[in-house]
Formats: sequence, C-alpha cells, structure tokens
Amino acid sequence: MNIDWSKLGFHYTEPDYIVRAAYHDGAWEEPYATKDKFLHLHVSATCLQYGQEAFEGLKAFRGIDGKIRIFRWRENAKRMKRSAEGLYMQPVPEELFGKAIRLALEKNLDFVPPYGTGATLYFRPLLIGTTPRLGVGPGRDFEFIVIPSPIGPYYPGKFHCTTFIVNRYVDRAAPYGTGQFKVGGNYASSFRATEAAHAMGCDCIFLDAKQHKYIDECSAANFIGIKEVKGDGLQVTGYEYLTPKSSAILPSITNDSLMTLAREMGMKVTRRHIRLEELADMSEAAACGTACVISPIDKVIDTEKGKTYSFGDEPGVVLSQLYHALKDIQYGRAEDKHHWCDVFEI
Ligand SMILES: Cc1ncc(COP(=O)(O)O)c(C=O)c1O
Repeated sequence: MNIDWSKLGFHYTEPDYIVRAAYHDGAWEEPYATKDKFLHLHVSATCLQYGQEAFEGLKAFRGIDGKIRIFRWRENAKRMKRSAEGLYMQPVPEELFGKAIRLALEKNLDFVPPYGTGATLYFRPLLIGTTPRLGVGPGRDFEFIVIPSPIGPYYPGKFHCTTFIVNRYVDRAAPYGTGQFKVGGNYASSFRATEAAHAMGCDCIFLDAKQHKYIDECSAANFIGIKEVKGDGLQVTGYEYLTPKSSAILPSITNDSLMTLAREMGMKVTRRHIRLEELADMSEAAACGTACVISPIDKVIDTEKGKTYSFGDEPGVVLSQLYHALKDIQYGRAEDKHHWCDVFEI
C-alpha cells in the first residue's frame, strides 16, 4: 500500500476491510470484517424503495504521541439510534456500534494517516433496511456497515474562509420532518441547492422551511455566529457564541464540543432562532462539523434581497481560537478534560 497522504482529498479511498452486522429474526449478529465491498441486496429492499437508511460520520486521529484517538463515537452511536427510530428502523446497540468501529480501526491500521499530515481515518457507519417490500411500509431486516476511509485535511493549505449563498428555492427539511436525523433523503433533497452554490465556488445557507426567516443550517454543517459584547464605553468586553435552535437541523457533535469550549473560554453561549438579518450584528460567522471542525465564512450573499454580509477575508480571532482548541484535543496536544477521545495505543 502506497498512499500519498498529502494528496488525499475528502473522497473515498478503498480500505482493506469494511465491517458488517445484520439484523434478522429480532437479533443482531456479531460484527465481522470483510474485504468484500459489495452487497447482495434485494431490488425491493426498503432502503432502495423508501429511503429507509441512516448514516454517521466520525474520525480517528493519529496524535502527537503516536496514539490513535477516536473522537466522541458514543455521541455518533446515540445520534444513529435517534435516526433509526426516526425512520422506524432497528437501532444499533451502542456496544455493537463501538465494537464495529474498533474492529474497522484494527483491521485498517495501515490506513490511519501519520501525525502531521492533517489527514485522518474517517468512519462512515451506515444502517439500511434490507427487507424486500413493495407495499409502502418499513422493513424488519437491517444491515449495519462501517466503511472506513482515510481522508485528507479539510484545509490542505491554510485555514481559510468560504463564501455562502442564501438559498430560498430548496428546503432541506421540514420543521417536523427528518432534518434532525442523519438520513440520506435530507442530503439528496438538498443537492439542487448545494450543487448550484458549488458551481459558483460557494456553499449555501438553508433557512427555516416554514418562513424562510431564520438560519437553519450551512449545507451539511451547523451555523455559528460570534457577536461582540460591549461595555458602557462601547469597548468589547467579551463574546457571545450564537447557534440556531431548530427542530429541522442535525444536532452537531462538533457544535456541542465547541459550545463547551466557548463556555470555558468565558463566552456566553446562546442557542435560539437567528434571523438572517442578524448576520449584520455578528463579527464572525462559520459552519461547523466533523469534516472541517470550523469553516469560517467571509461573506453571506443574499442575491434575492441584494444584500451581502461581510466578516473579513481572514478567519476571525474567536473562531480561530476555538478551531485550534478542538484540534489540539483531537491530536493529543491538549488535555482532554471531558474524555471526548478514546485512546488506542496501537
Ligand atoms: C446536515 C448536517 N449538519 C451538521 C453536521 C455536523 O455534525 P457533526 O459535527 O456531528 O459532524 C453534519 C455532518 O455530520 C450534517 O450532515
């Protein structure tokens, strides 16, 4: 195996093994590793016919001390359980989820990128309904699969900003729909908007589907805004970390971690509905998620209203501080006070 770690992008590189476990007759089988990357799936499987599927995304990092750290996998297991319940699927028990991730790591150790390359081993857990059905309804058989793949650094050059475009013609998820779950349908339905934005070298902001008034999400990431808190003399006395509250967005594990770090840095953390126009009051803005940790925003362009919100061409100080603080924990360069990482000396 000969991988040029510096040339890896955020795309699939075939690992040696994937891990699988099926659910039949009311019981999960033990997860096992296999080199076979193809499924023998019935054409009428509920995942194909009705989109009965959910997935996750998490990473293993080779740290400064040579140890491997998997970041907050239990939170991914919990979220996948909620997604499974949301789509009437059999949830994967947390213990099985953990066993499968560990097996996927142990069987693909050569694919864990070395420290200093910025590359990581990404895991894509997937849960699909496999029962053949033509009548509309859920299946009773499921397959859980963990697909590992080394991926390159999100920022191969320097930590930089992206421009976002406000989208009003595609709704990613309805207020009481599946937006809070990590299920394929949410992504397929957003492609028309995200691909149009990508064609312009940008990403897109989804607004709440009911009123198109509040910020929901940034493509496949949560939104963060930073507001300066000012004293009587209008000097900056602190910062407020703002993030949307919405029933249609995915509860991001990165956002949750950053909120904890922001509180520890003395920031006020607020989760509430955020009107799009409030961008004008923010000093910094970003998208956040497992892939990028933080993707700072230089501009948000609202073409329909003829308005552009600008945050400067370089990542701001507050978001840069948060970005480095979380990465330092993931790479073992800072104390992991919250026990977010499972450490493997392999
Ligand atoms: C729609 C959406 N929102 C937010 C996130 C960020 O979540 P996390 O930080 O858990 O990766 C993701 C990525 O998983 C996503 O797909």
